[in-house]
Amino acid sequence: MKLILKLWSLNKHNHWLFKLGVAILLMGLAFRLFFYQSTILEPNLEDPFVDKSQVPNPPLSVDITEPPVAVDIPEPSVAVDIPNPPVAVDVAEPEDEEAPKHEVNPGKCDLFAGDWIPNPSGPIYTNASCPLIEGHQNCMRNGRPDSGYLFWRWKPRYCELPPFDPQRFLELMRNKAWALIGDSISRNHVQSLLCMLSSVEQAVEVYHDKEYKSKRWHFPSYNFTISNIWSPFLVEAAIFEDNDGVSTAEVQLQLDKLDENWTNLYQNLDYAIISTGKWFLKAAIYHEKGTVVGCHICPGKNFTEKGFVFAYEKALHYAMDFIATSKHKGLIFFRTSTPDHFDNGEWHNGGNCPKTTPAKEGEMELKDLNRILRDTELAEFEKASAKAAEKGVSLKLLDFTNLLVSRPDGHPGPYRQFYPFAKDKNATVQNDCLHWCLPGPIDYWNDVIMEMVVNS
Ligand SMILES: *[C@@H]1O[C@H](CO)[C@@H](O)[C@H](O)[C@H]1NC(C)=O
Ligand SMILES: *[C@@H]1O[C@H](CO)[C@@H](O)[C@H](O)[C@H]1NC(C)=O
Ligand SMILES: *[C@@H]1O[C@H](CO)[C@@H](O)[C@H](O)[C@H]1NC(C)=O
Ligand SMILES: *[C@@H]1O[C@H](CO)[C@@H](O)[C@H](O)[C@H]1NC(C)=O
Ligand SMILES: *[C@@H]1O[C@H](CO)[C@@H](O)[C@H](O)[C@H]1NC(C)=O
Repeated sequence: MKLILKLWSLNKHNHWLFKLGVAILLMGLAFRLFFYQSTILEPNLEDPFVDKSQVPNPPLSVDITEPPVAVDIPEPSVAVDIPNPPVAVDVAEPEDEEAPKHEVNPGKCDLFAGDWIPNPSGPIYTNASCPLIEGHQNCMRNGRPDSGYLFWRWKPRYCELPPFDPQRFLELMRNKAWALIGDSISRNHVQSLLCMLSSVEQAVEVYHDKEYKSKRWHFPSYNFTISNIWSPFLVEAAIFEDNDGVSTAEVQLQLDKLDENWTNLYQNLDYAIISTGKWFLKAAIYHEKGTVVGCHICPGKNFTEKGFVFAYEKALHYAMDFIATSKHKGLIFFRTSTPDHFDNGEWHNGGNCPKTTPAKEGEMELKDLNRILRDTELAEFEKASAKAAEKGVSLKLLDFTNLLVSRPDGHPGPYRQFYPFAKDKNATVQNDCLHWCLPGPIDYWNDVIMEMVVNS
């Protein structure tokens, strides 16, 4: 009963977690009755649940596989007729919930506390104007029939947030270098940023690694560079997965060795946004100082089940300590992981996210697992930020949880695929309720980030 051990270790510190653990354990056991496989397979990396350890990944995992060429999901030859004009008349009619305007010192305004308010002008780019949107997140092109989700903007409660100004941003970033470091949500974000900037200048891809996971773009007129560094754990990881995202073995995680894919680049950056998250839920063997110190979901391996929080705390601590003591002169953001909105199940068993409007206040609660990740992140950030301040490193938090938890309508859902219902309107298709449509809610991250950059 490794599971019990795992849950127990996960919950040594937190009694409430134990209750959650028991609930998850029961679900997990029920699950196994249906899905048990003798080979070691592990949950999809984006599976928000801890312990469906024996569930095979579906052929199309949300995230692990990267097509050899990112943007070219083949279009079926049949033209399917569900036109959806990008900036259309069918603007949703939400009630205007604009909060009363308090005149607060803008330096003190919490940009992360606010509401989504109607934005009739819609996004500044579309699937037609930006060629960099990944197929799985290109909801417009994939035939998502509703477009109301595009007509909202983020409004901090106590101050004005100027809309992202691509021209001004590029001017500010002349001769500068950014990197977005993390998992597929970072990739989602970099595409959003590149698309918003593309209304002024198209980015030129100047580098990609062998697997097309890390990339770099250059804006020639501004000598501005943006890198997207694939580093889903921030620490060194050996991942054993085939192209369908099916794992043949646990991840081998070196908790005390940072992934050089980002640390090598780090000192040359003017700005970095660093994040991690859901990959830590996967089955993994944990190493420190070259020896195994435990594992997460490794039945039959005779290692101590430590629970993912054990590894998450260590990896975050190590990464943030590196940042805090780095003497870096630029501006470093740590971004918390993002909430998912799988309803009626999870990614692999029919979970979906059919909402088409933002949630009302209090309607959406952060799921327990998302909360555990975030709490761990915030605790580690707090420790690191004190140290960073001492050492003169600019380390800031991007916590978009509130902004995103109220946007269950912002995910691709079934429209991660091209016209998923073209052949069969009752087709069963895997939903993506984790990543975000582009254009979509995470475009407004850039409004917030620009404001923080301008005022830093
Ligand atoms: C963009 O999406 C619309 C449907 O919203 C589609 O008609 C159009 O072909 C798409 N354009 C591109 C370039 O993908
Ligand atoms: C372009 O920017 C980089 C820093 O990102 C700088 O090292 C380089 O000198 C710049 N090139 C020119 C031509 O200014
Ligand atoms: C660095 O990136 C390369 C290419 O994506 C990858 O194969 C390698 O595993 C990464 N290194 C680590 C330590 O994750
Ligand atoms: C499991 O590990 C313990 C402690 O390291 C060891 O004493 C025991 O012999 C191991 N059992 C097996 C079956 O390898
Ligand atoms: C889809 O389901 C509805 C009822 O749920 C049924 O009436 C219809 O025939 C089905 N269509 C196809 C193409 O299977």
